[in-house]
Amino acid sequence: MRIILPLVALGLISDSVHGFTVFHPPVVLNTNTRTVTKRHGLYSTATPTTGTQEKDGLVVGDTKGAVLLLEDVAISRGSNQIIANAELRIERGQRWGIVGANGAGKSTLLGCITGTVRKDSGKALVAPKVRVGYLRQTAVAGSNKTVFEEAASEMADINEAKAKMEMAETAITNGDTSDAMLIMLDEATSEFTAAGGWTQEQEVSLVLQGLGFQPEDSNRLCSEFSGGWQMRIALARLLLSKPNLLLLDEPSNHLDSSARDWLGKYLAAFDGSLVLVSHDTSLLEASVNNIAEVTSGTLLTYVSCSYSRYLEEKEFRKKVAQAEYERNLAEAAHLQAFVDKWGASATKAASAQSRVKQIEKMRKEGKLTPPPAAVVQTNWKPSMILPDPPKAMGEILLSLNNANIGYDADGEPLLKNINFELRRGQKVILRGPNGAGKSTLMAALRGSLSLLSGERNENEKLRLGYFTQDLAQQLDKSARAVDLVTAHAREGKFGDITISDEDARSVMGRLGLTGEKSLRKVADLSGGEKARVALSMFALKASNVILLDEPSNHLDVECIEALSNALNNWNIKDGAIVVVSHDQPFCESVGFNTVGTVKDGSLKVEERALDTSDWRLFDMTLPESSDKNASMPKELTPEEKEEQKRLRKLAYNAPKQIAKLEKLIEAAEAKLLTIEEEMLEIGTDIGRLVDFQKKKEKIEKDILKYEREWEELEEILASVGEQ
Ligand SMILES: Nc1ncnc2c1ncn2[C@@H]1O[C@H](COP(=O)(O)OP(=O)(O)OP(=O)(O)O)[C@@H](O)[C@H]1O
Ligand SMILES: [Mg+2]
Repeated sequence: MRIILPLVALGLISDSVHGFTVFHPPVVLNTNTRTVTKRHGLYSTATPTTGTQEKDGLVVGDTKGAVLLLEDVAISRGSNQIIANAELRIERGQRWGIVGANGAGKSTLLGCITGTVRKDSGKALVAPKVRVGYLRQTAVAGSNKTVFEEAASEMADINEAKAKMEMAETAITNGDTSDAMLIMLDEATSEFTAAGGWTQEQEVSLVLQGLGFQPEDSNRLCSEFSGGWQMRIALARLLLSKPNLLLLDEPSNHLDSSARDWLGKYLAAFDGSLVLVSHDTSLLEASVNNIAEVTSGTLLTYVSCSYSRYLEEKEFRKKVAQAEYERNLAEAAHLQAFVDKWGASATKAASAQSRVKQIEKMRKEGKLTPPPAAVVQTNWKPSMILPDPPKAMGEILLSLNNANIGYDADGEPLLKNINFELRRGQKVILRGPNGAGKSTLMAALRGSLSLLSGERNENEKLRLGYFTQDLAQQLDKSARAVDLVTAHAREGKFGDITISDEDARSVMGRLGLTGEKSLRKVADLSGGEKARVALSMFALKASNVILLDEPSNHLDVECIEALSNALNNWNIKDGAIVVVSHDQPFCESVGFNTVGTVKDGSLKVEERALDTSDWRLFDMTLPESSDKNASMPKELTPEEKEEQKRLRKLAYNAPKQIAKLEKLIEAAEAKLLTIEEEMLEIGTDIGRLVDFQKKKEKIEKDILKYEREWEELEEILASVGEQ
């Protein structure tokens, strides 16, 4: 018989204090091998005690062939039940996106898989021999190594083979030329080669570069980097550790648009299993093909569904469930009417009785119970109103004249000779490549970073409002949320001492921090709820210049919409907005009229709207990193030669086959369109809708199959072309 031991019990969790965890290959013990070695001071075979802080580790068990299996999981935080009846099965190689409103329980769910949050009941099992990598929502690298060393530190296969190789080399140099030692060196060298050891440096550099590091950053100490960049180091280290199951909690929050694009492509090409919690719709669209939504206290799954398809499917499920329920109610009412009319009649009493039984049967089958809230509920939408901007003197609200901006008074400024006038009515978006200095320019505009030289001039009546994701991270965790919001509105030169707790709570309530949530300590709120506290602080104070630096990170889709609506309804005639944001839907809805490009130490300001080419401008493509042994050309084995022959043959026929598949896809898509139109016309006839839905699913499956074949053939053509 097997017993399942929490991995913490085996001391197998490393580095969990830094928000990044790799769970090394798990072990399933037999009952007769109960002795467990204590490592890293973590040891606990007992079932977890109560509370939310204890770590019971990842649980390895029989997942029935899946990589990860959740069965009937229920979790509470404090006295609130967050999730119940959660079921999820993640197969090898599947990529799942976990979505849901702020505070729905997404991080809690990952916490229960990795053992940082305790389950009330149910099972969360990981298959044996799976290396799990986990990135927390607030990860930091927390290390004194260089960026390169830290990023490479968890490449276990390479590092182990390297250590073995070096050990054998030293022994041989010292005179041990025994067969055993030579074999060991040979083995270690093969392992090192297979793990990609010869190209490790390139691989690490490619990942660091993808995440926005400059080549010279590799040798800098991690401790020199800000929180956001530390998170990138943790992410680089995690990706390079090559887990088989990757659990990422909002990994893109600290990334700019090129790094996000890079991550999307990296994850799409990742060949392990992925669970990605994110509010970033572009990242989800690019990298996952299954969705699980945490909603109304449970988990709804959408298998083989991109993010955009999930939105449609969710709407469809809702309509079908509602229509079916209404049809059942109508049928029951019809049956009841017969009973009421003829129940007392001697001749029809038997028929009436049979109808009573039919109604009873419907009730027992749950047909007369309203569909679950998780399926039909329309999400409650947060809203936000910004106070009118106080009138300023003249047109110019804020300006920088001949400003040199940077952090090192003796070094080169990051931005040179900046001249910028912010006028009433301007909605400015700042764009630019990684590290160009967008946030630095924001800090200079805000006045929190002194200029190295030049001038910063404020309008006499300037009232600055500022919101950034870092603000949420910096909130005093031990304070009550409502107290922070009230204090912020009252303090400072322009503070309003008449603002009451009630005022603060009503702004917070509109943003979803209702009831006891506003009275909670900041530490007991989710990442997005903390961001909403910071947003409430910003929303309660009147300002005529609004500076927003990556405002949408951590916020869910609906809260971002509330923010963009508030900005649109704000009286821009008397104020101005400056934004740094990667979030395309958000930027499009704000509707900028000025584009500032920060690049090569300068700022170029154009009075125009954003266009699509602005989004492509600073994108990076995923570097070719798949060929691990690129620097070591080698002789092909007979098997490899045979495989090459087979591929060439396939490639010869591929163009014809591809053309055929393209026709098939085109025809199937046309069919799909007709079916969708017909479904719209059918309306609420559930019987027919269900038939049509089946047809639709069949065609969608066919399309997927054709597309896969098409992709395979294209890949074969490309690979043969490269040879
Ligand atoms: N330490 C805690 N004590 C009590 N309640 C908590 C604690 N941490 C989180 N919660 C609550 O649990 C719920 C789920 O939080 P969780 O962090 O899982 O949300 P989430 O879906 O990840 O949200 P977000 O999108 O904001 O990251 C929230 O209502 C939150 O307020
Ligand atoms: Mg979260």
